Amino acid sequence: MKRIICIILCCLFLLSVPMAMGTQAAGGKLVAITFDDGPSGYTTTLLDGLKSRGAKATFFVVGNRVNSYPNVMRRMVSEGHQIANHTTTHPNLNTLSGEGVSSELNTCEQRLKTYGGAQTYAIRPPYGNHNATVRARANGPLILWSVDTLDWQSRNATSVYNKIVNNTRDGSIVLLHDLYSTSVQGALNAIDTLKAQGYEFVTVNELFRRRGITMQKGVAYSSAYNNGVTLPAASAPKAVSVAISDVVGGKKVSLATATKGADIYYTTDGSNPTLQSRKYSGTITLKESATLKAAAYNEVWGAVTQKQINVPFADAPKASLEGKTLTLEAVKGTTIYYETNGSVPTKKSAVYTDPITINKQCSVLVRASGKADHVIHYTVTKHGALFTDVPLKSWYYTAVGEAEHRGIMKGTAENVFSPETEITRAMFVTALYRMSPDAEQKFADSGFKDVTKKWYRDAVNWARANGVVRGMSDTEFAPNAEITREQMCSMLHRYLKVYKLQGARQKRAALKDMHTVSSWAKKDVAALYEMGLINGMGDGIFAPKLSATRAQCAKLLVAVDDMK
Ligand code: NI
Repeated sequence: MKRIICIILCCLFLLSVPMAMGTQAAGGKLVAITFDDGPSGYTTTLLDGLKSRGAKATFFVVGNRVNSYPNVMRRMVSEGHQIANHTTTHPNLNTLSGEGVSSELNTCEQRLKTYGGAQTYAIRPPYGNHNATVRARANGPLILWSVDTLDWQSRNATSVYNKIVNNTRDGSIVLLHDLYSTSVQGALNAIDTLKAQGYEFVTVNELFRRRGITMQKGVAYSSAYNNGVTLPAASAPKAVSVAISDVVGGKKVSLATATKGADIYYTTDGSNPTLQSRKYSGTITLKESATLKAAAYNEVWGAVTQKQINVPFADAPKASLEGKTLTLEAVKGTTIYYETNGSVPTKKSAVYTDPITINKQCSVLVRASGKADHVIHYTVTKHGALFTDVPLKSWYYTAVGEAEHRGIMKGTAENVFSPETEITRAMFVTALYRMSPDAEQKFADSGFKDVTKKWYRDAVNWARANGVVRGMSDTEFAPNAEITREQMCSMLHRYLKVYKLQGARQKRAALKDMHTVSSWAKKDVAALYEMGLINGMGDGIFAPKLSATRAQCAKLLVAVDDMK
């Protein structure tokens, strides 16, 4: 009996050699290399090596390591490798209860989903141990191996290389661990040798797909040797085409690929689509400008289509206020909805047709085809000026209204004050000049060579003639430089002296950063501080070198103007 079996086996062995050679010539030789127990600090080197060799691998990662290597995990997925389940804490599953097994497998799977999306994840039970409970609880196929490199034992790149090269055959699954630099080096060297012998390095899923085998969950597989079937490599699906049309409130975007059955994934934040990206399931409405990237996926990724889609805001109306009557001239094709009670308007709000009576505020929603919804908040100052950027509840609402009304500061554009914008030296000197009793007077040329614009020239001439400014040098004023808080104090203090507006000084706790104030500005900062015109940024810090905003300037100058 024994002898007969032996003879049959020998015959089969002899026959299998030429048969295998025949099929190898016809199809490619496939091998799946797999790495367990990672990711680790060596995985990046491994990914670099796989990328430069055009080789795909399968990573059976340990769940509790996954979140420490988010970039490595993302790279595995984006570079076409397979990520798979090696449990959460690497226990011997045969020693656990059913619930214990499920917990180990499901927690790891949840973490994999963060990177690979919803799919069936292959499982490699630690030590290859599985029993009936493990098989019943498994949510994917159990993947064992046919080539054991014993890399964890040898820690020797040459030994790892020899184990792979000497034992791999068409359809092998090779077991490695990306915890050791020797495993990474041995594997990459072996890939070079086996590629030269005609091997193609594929993921486990791809190996079984091309052998025509549909893996079943809870069933163990350790190889997919050549069975006479070698399907062609999955070919990349056709690129995604993008069609854009206008809808009210934005752009409607339709995506399509000519490849049947391929799914389309897309992003709008400029990143490349992955399996975690949004899956296209019907037209998308873009309500703001975006960089759209889309790609089709069908076992492998198609080329990424990129399109910049601009969604400008619906055009603002021209707004004007007469007393309490607000008139809005809508741009053609826009619809204006409004609220005058402080709430944000919606499509259900009243539609603007004729001038409306407002008290302190009016908010409008402007809508148009192909444009983004545009919300504009109009506020009215105490003196009846209309601004879109001076909120009723802001700390500077009153100061801006006064500064505008008294002619100290003007808006930067129609209905725009730019309160949060840094103020330049030219703007500040102009405001001081407008506030001064000499506002209408002309003075001799300042001699500053960089004073080139008409709108601030008279102000600079006035400031130089009265000693309010000294300039950066005799010939340079730096009109467009942002004014620092200490420069502002210096100019203002000199202004107060010129017009004899010295306020009462009170002793206050010294500013903590007085030592950082430039020597030429120390007296000025101290004087304004003791007059109560300036305060610290909080905690007694003055921050002399910081620039000042237009709102801060309005508040300060109105306070000075009140000293008259
Ligand atoms: Ni392991």
